[in-house]
Amino acid sequence: MEKRFREQLYLALTLLFLNLGSAEIVENTHGCYGTPGLPGMPGLPGRDGRDGLKGAKGEPGIPASSTLLGLKGMKGDPGPPGLRGKPGPPGAPGAMGTPGEPGHAGPPGAPGSFSQQLQSAFSVTRKTSQYPLKNIPVVFNNVITNANNDYNTTSGKFTCRLPGVYYFVFHSSHTANLCVILHKNQRKMASFCDHKTNSMQVSSGGTLLHLAAADEVWLGVNDYNGMVGIANSDSIFSGFLLFPD
Ligand SMILES: *[C@@H]1O[C@H](CO)[C@@H](O)[C@H](O)[C@H]1NC(C)=O
Repeated sequence: MEKRFREQLYLALTLLFLNLGSAEIVENTHGCYGTPGLPGMPGLPGRDGRDGLKGAKGEPGIPASSTLLGLKGMKGDPGPPGLRGKPGPPGAPGAMGTPGEPGHAGPPGAPGSFSQQLQSAFSVTRKTSQYPLKNIPVVFNNVITNANNDYNTTSGKFTCRLPGVYYFVFHSSHTANLCVILHKNQRKMASFCDHKTNSMQVSSGGTLLHLAAADEVWLGVNDYNGMVGIANSDSIFSGFLLFPD
């Protein structure tokens, strides 16, 4: 307030001086012009202008990026376990284990027919004029009777299927000396030798044998092997189960 008053006072005084100057000039119109006066004192600064209009609204700022976010917080607690994953591919097969203990014996089977169950009987002939080889089974290659094929016409051996007592018997025609030896497995059970005195002879022999399952019975010859099987001169080997165990 005081400043405004002083400014107005200075303005009034200035106007007064100017009027006095002009009055002097007017007075001097009658005389010669004097030397111009010194420049006046600089005026006082003007008053402050009024506030300008409000400026236009600025452009929106750049969105803040994560790098501009606040400081990294503390590490959180571990989350709950995730769902169970899918099963992986099967592994390579392991090494073979040791064989297990044998199982218990099964229950007895259904009873079969007695006549079928306990049958064993055969009669086979040897149909050839050739003498058999020594120390191996003589093969009787022609079947007359062979229940359950217990006699094998290829190997020349009877194989026991039903344990029990068997009767074996042979009748052989021979055109030369002949020894027939009855074997149980590799063991000689009985030997029958006949020296030829006629052009054609028949020798025979037989025995009872107690056999276990899988026992083999067969006829063999030695160096005396004149056995033949020709018309009217058969060589025949028979056996049958007398009674089972
Ligand atoms: C008969 O004996 C032969 C020779 O040993 C053999 O190959 C064959 O398997 C036997 N047959 C039977 C039914 O056992």
